[in-house]
Amino acid sequence: MSEVAPGDGVESVASILRAPTPPAWVEQAVRAWPQLLLDHANCEKKAASTALALMFAYPEDRALTVALCRVAREELRHFEQVVRAMDTLGVVFARQRPGRYAQLLRGTLRSAEPGRKVDLLLMSALIEARSAERFALLAPRLPAPLARLYTDLMSAEGRHFALYLGLARSAAPEEWRLRLVALAAREAELATAPDTALRFHSGPVAVEP
Ligand SMILES: [Fe+2]
Ligand SMILES: [Fe+2]
Repeated sequence: MSEVAPGDGVESVASILRAPTPPAWVEQAVRAWPQLLLDHANCEKKAASTALALMFAYPEDRALTVALCRVAREELRHFEQVVRAMDTLGVVFARQRPGRYAQLLRGTLRSAEPGRKVDLLLMSALIEARSAERFALLAPRLPAPLARLYTDLMSAEGRHFALYLGLARSAAPEEWRLRLVALAAREAELATAPDTALRFHSGPVAVEP
């Protein structure tokens, strides 16, 4: 798993997540992979849009702007790769309601600066880490074109996790670790507690889809 760039302390994808993905979610995701692929396509678009939003929110932070410009382009390329996989596997695009994960996680962020900036960066780090964890769990269980794609994406999202975490550390060297504890606890709850809709970042659904 990708690790953060040299600095004080090294966090891996596994160590930042407060709870592993439940095996029940993996089993449901393997069975409902076409549905998950649709949500995954939306996640890649959303990841690009989040990176762009941060560039607009903090234009004076040159390191952030330059790094996230690259991330936004990379996430759009991921979207294109997912769409190609959908075509190959005969998955037709359909509208899908977003799950609870991102919206409720966002609800735990502080609204006032300077706290909001570090919270936004930590939230992105956690989402990227959860994505990398789930790609690793799914890759060995899915049809060949998806297995290859998910293996590639696992390392890309692992890099994004390390990048966002590094930016959060720079933004709040004294405070980031404490905020990470709070946000990671909420993230773990949302990714593991019984959910109502099966999504890429959801908990397992109580009733099978
Ligand atoms: Fe991505
Ligand atoms: Fe990413």
